[in-house]
Amino acid sequence: EANYFGSLTQSGTVSLGLDAEGQEVFVPFSALLPMVPPDDLVFDGWDISSLNLAEAMRRAQVLDCGLQEQLWPHMEALRPRPSVYIPEFIAANQSARADNLIPGTRAQQLEQIRKDIRDFRSRAGLDKVIVLWTANTERFCDVVPGLNDTAENLLRTIQHGREVSPSTLFAVASVLEGCAFLNGSPQNTLVPGALELAEQHRVFVGGDDFKSGQTKVKSVLVDFLIGSGLKTMSIVSYNHLGNNDGQNLSAPQQFRSKEVSKSSVVDDMVQSNPVLYAPGEEPDHCVVIKYVPYVGDSKRALDEYTSELMLGGTNTL
Ligand SMILES: NC(=O)c1ccc[n+]([C@@H]2O[C@H](COP(=O)([O-])OP(=O)(O)OC[C@H]3O[C@@H](n4cnc5c(N)ncnc54)[C@H](O)[C@@H]3O)[C@@H](O)[C@H]2O)c1
Repeated sequence: EANYFGSLTQSGTVSLGLDAEGQEVFVPFSALLPMVPPDDLVFDGWDISSLNLAEAMRRAQVLDCGLQEQLWPHMEALRPRPSVYIPEFIAANQSARADNLIPGTRAQQLEQIRKDIRDFRSRAGLDKVIVLWTANTERFCDVVPGLNDTAENLLRTIQHGREVSPSTLFAVASVLEGCAFLNGSPQNTLVPGALELAEQHRVFVGGDDFKSGQTKVKSVLVDFLIGSGLKTMSIVSYNHLGNNDGQNLSAPQQFRSKEVSKSSVVDDMVQSNPVLYAPGEEPDHCVVIKYVPYVGDSKRALDEYTSELMLGGTNTL
């Protein structure tokens, strides 16, 4: 039986306060504000790999075989639209899947993405389109004056075919089509020029990695530790995973994007507590990610947190 377990809006509840008997009252999150029921969402998308979504589901080996069989007829007709592949932005080990590409110059590619968005909107008769980047982690883009520091420079860079990442190209296309853009990967897609463009067009953009598992737990734990008055001085995280994300992250530049994103979640908490941390002081923070094909999509994470407390004590979690 289908359900939405794991969805904040569909399965979460919110405390409204106390009733007349002093009992706490909870309501479904989705009852607080009018929201689009998820069954009314329509999906479309791009991928540099041409596999239809049923074949992609089989290749990914995430869902149980029985469930794959049930889903197959629903997924088979869904084919990703061609996308923009710039080899230097993702790991070289991804090149074999890149067989579904938008040809032409950067400017022509931008136009094609905009056309795809318009085509999707009109064919499916949609009120609103939101673009979500869930493709491979890219390497960081240098923010260079004249290249991508302002909206004007970024648009000129695209026209002249200078350096722009595929994800930034999608962000620019979304903004120009008036569609909110969310980034689910760790790289700096939203360079200053993309942010300025979004402000100019009054379009919502956001996102910096999904932070759904280990990183989310880290932000909760560091909030708990530092909020309790413990001075966390060392955070060491190991991960291993064997899916395509892991293979892409086994290349140093793509790993670097993930390392920065995973490390940034403790910064706010450290800055929030000047009693514990002197200006500029921060915990040692080490992130290790290893690609272990055998474990497939079953990712493993191990973390160690070491904090100082009074009387020379140390708390290790
Ligand atoms: N899965 C998670 O739990 C999770 C959590 C946090 C962050 N993320 C991040 O989300 C991203 C996706 O993760 P995943 O596990 O789905 O990876 P994945 O490798 O299974 O899927 C990525 C897909 O993007 C496609 N792709 C690559 N470049 C593209 C481009 N330029 N245009 C269009 N498609 C392109 C690939 O062909 C592939 O199908 C990664 O950056 C990952 O680090 C994932």
